[in-house]
Amino acid sequence: AWSKVPLGPPDAILGITEAYKADQFEEKINLGVGAYRDDNGKPYVLPTVKEAELRLISQLLDKEYAGITGVGAFTKLAARLAYSPSSPVIKEDRVAITQSISGTGALRIGGEFLARWYPYNKTIYLPTPTWANHGAVFRDSGLDVKSYRYYDKATISLDIDGMLQDIETAPENSIILLHACAHNPTGVDPTPEQWRRISDVVKKRNHFVFFDMAYQGFASGDFDRDAFALRYFVEQGHQLVLAQSFAKNMGLYGERVGSFSMVVDSAEEKKRVDSQLKIIVRPLYSNPPIHGARIAAEVLSDEVLYEQWLAEVKGMADRIIQMRHLLKQHLEELGSTRDWSHITSQIGMFCYTGLTPEQVDTLRTEYSVYMTRDGRISVAGITSKNVKRLAESIHSVTK
Ligand code: LMR
Repeated sequence: AWSKVPLGPPDAILGITEAYKADQFEEKINLGVGAYRDDNGKPYVLPTVKEAELRLISQLLDKEYAGITGVGAFTKLAARLAYSPSSPVIKEDRVAITQSISGTGALRIGGEFLARWYPYNKTIYLPTPTWANHGAVFRDSGLDVKSYRYYDKATISLDIDGMLQDIETAPENSIILLHACAHNPTGVDPTPEQWRRISDVVKKRNHFVFFDMAYQGFASGDFDRDAFALRYFVEQGHQLVLAQSFAKNMGLYGERVGSFSMVVDSAEEKKRVDSQLKIIVRPLYSNPPIHGARIAAEVLSDEVLYEQWLAEVKGMADRIIQMRHLLKQHLEELGSTRDWSHITSQIGMFCYTGLTPEQVDTLRTEYSVYMTRDGRISVAGITSKNVKRLAESIHSVTK
């Protein structure tokens, strides 16, 4: 029956993990997927997550289904973390929210909702470049996908003029996807001043904003600062939706913990929107898994665990910054004449190195160094033990 099914290409990001796993070389380095590693290159389960998990296990809770929109205690706290407990939209109960299968699931629910119910231009504009999965998620949801300029290769920084121009010339009432913080893959975010300008243009053109916030806490190490753009847009009266992930900042990758939320006008509107979210989720996967959401709720609700968690996230962010400095330092010591200042100026989990696809291929085949073909490296995969070999490998393909 499947003789006509063509072989598809490997996934741009997760395909790298598969290739890395198949490599027999002992000193291989995986800088593909954005997953935090400790300085021994090992996956890191946050101590607060371990503690929350032990507490849950000792309670021997039942395994009943959650409601269609998930674990209520979790989504309530997730919304507060993103929008802030003092936000009018929280106080006035104007956030419709559902648990999701992490950030990807949130984007997909959002895409489906907009494809069904957004009454205007069902085109979503994504930054160039953007996360490798964004296009597929929104196309499969039924939206048209277009792009706006974001990153200027020449200056290795934000192309703010190009971005504003493209948002301005997009047809009125378009949907604009914005990375709330720690832009993936470039690690380049707008400044608060630039966010204000973006908000003005979005407002002028009556666009609708879809925020993707997969890295709250990872950009600056401070959850409130990282939510600046989202909160500013809410303050400015934008109607918007938000995809949230706890994969990175709680290290809950495989537990798939996230949420999709929508700022609405009134409690009455919330009821209608909630009902349609349920109608989207039910045929997709009925209701989400409970374990990870319970862990997140425990961490977010317990004052002591919560404070400890903030410090752990800061610790992860700091180790990444340290590795950025080490990599740059090693490249300079090796005599590289390239300007590597972007390694330390970019933020979040990734560095957009500027390596060409051909250089990336050589790194993979000759040095067993793995990264996505756009030249993005997950800095979280660098350790004090592999950084020297990494710098040598990069230097040898760029000199
Ligand atoms: C990444 O960009 O590497 C992460 O968001 C993981 C993924 O699912 O692609």
